[in-house]
Amino acid sequence: MAKETLTVTDNRTGKKYEVPIENGAVRATELGQMGLVSYDPALLNTAVCESKISYIDGDAGILRYRGYPIEELAEQSTFLETAYLIVKGELPTTSHFRMWQHNIKTHTLIHENLKHFIEGFRYDAHPMGILIGTVGALSTFYPEAKQVMDLESRRVQTRRLIGKMPTIAAFAYRHSRGLPYIYPDNELSYTGNFLSMMFKMTELKYRPDPILEHALDVLFILHADHEQNCSSTTMRTIGSSLADPYSAVAGAAAALSGPRHGSANEEVVHMLHEIGSKDNVASVIKQAKSGEKRLTGFGHRVYKNYDPRAKIIKRIAYEVFEVTGKNPLIDIALELERIALQDDYFVTRRLYPNVDFYSGIIYEAMGLPVTMFPVLFAIARTAGWMAQWAELVTDEEQKITRPKQLYLGHDERPYVPLDQRRDGGALETEVSGPL
Ligand code: CMC
Repeated sequence: MAKETLTVTDNRTGKKYEVPIENGAVRATELGQMGLVSYDPALLNTAVCESKISYIDGDAGILRYRGYPIEELAEQSTFLETAYLIVKGELPTTSHFRMWQHNIKTHTLIHENLKHFIEGFRYDAHPMGILIGTVGALSTFYPEAKQVMDLESRRVQTRRLIGKMPTIAAFAYRHSRGLPYIYPDNELSYTGNFLSMMFKMTELKYRPDPILEHALDVLFILHADHEQNCSSTTMRTIGSSLADPYSAVAGAAAALSGPRHGSANEEVVHMLHEIGSKDNVASVIKQAKSGEKRLTGFGHRVYKNYDPRAKIIKRIAYEVFEVTGKNPLIDIALELERIALQDDYFVTRRLYPNVDFYSGIIYEAMGLPVTMFPVLFAIARTAGWMAQWAELVTDEEQKITRPKQLYLGHDERPYVPLDQRRDGGALETEVSGPL
């Protein structure tokens, strides 16, 4: 049988090293005995943990949560059931699911002080900023959350976060519109209640349209986890210092808020509005190819094939349009996809539509404001963040995250007194740098 090792020769010294291979990986620390470190900016080829939550085959366009194909979950599960699966590792039995739903719904209300906290934001504050700030503030309401090694505490904080995220998100929206806050209606489903908190006006009971409620639920399933993405990595990095999970979720949401990650859905809709008509698609493709502008909603670090989530979303879009009427942006998006997928630039780089390409079009058709799109992503991803965090804190191999660097700065040099420096810089060098 072939040996599960890698033999490395250091040509500087002629020395040979045999390094074990485990699960298709070599430990970067093995390089230490050779006097080397691995250099991997943006962690392109570095596994930072062992995980049992999500599986992605980027070449084949496959995504599974705990072994279950995303297509089957989108078709047959609900967001709360999928959240249970992600957090607990197995699909629930009927009684466990009943208990889980009860436990999440018990935590949908937020402390009244938190409502006043939200009121402190400016009227035009971006809801993602409100969400990040408010979820971070939750840590001051639950100081026992610092007991991150306590299973019961981890469980309670997980239920609280999954329960409260839609409430904070909806309150952020209502604040921006100057509308009164709507308290949770626990008779409704998870997404039905969210729609109620977003859109209820003076009616006694808000009744969500079942097709829209279901579409949002499926979108939440599709966004619930995605292995070691930028925000989950942030969640793990913050969690590795044993910070409380509210602070860690605030950090993860901040990572999500960038246009290359969870705000891409917002950017896509802006881009499609800017394009305005199918006739202008070719010029946008040209700009993307020249490097002037990225085509938002295209490309993925892991998927080098059609993102399986985008396929599902594209199908749901038409179910939503049956209720809302067609969002004309879909025609521009389809044309953009058609041209891009035939173009050598996109084909050779294997750039396909990702999850964000069509989701914004659905959200917009449902009347959800563009600024809420990354917030919706954050609500769903909270299940994944909590599962990733719990996996980290219970992994005995994990320590505080502390990467290495390759120092390429100055050697030691003497301090130069202020009056001996040239204007605008130190004695010998001009100041130039990223800041
Ligand atoms: N439009 C045009 N060119 C692109 C695009 C794009 N959207 N994405 C990548 N490229 C090009 C890039 O310029 C580079 O070309 P070259 O080799 O000539 O320099 C090549 O493709 C590889 O790009 P990269 O930046 O090395 O790829 P990455 O794996 O670091 O980036 C990405 C992945 C998702 C950040 C990137 O594809 C991107 O910026 N896409 C647009 C933003 C977006 O849609 N983000 C949502 C991602 S899915 C949901 C989520 O995870 O939040």
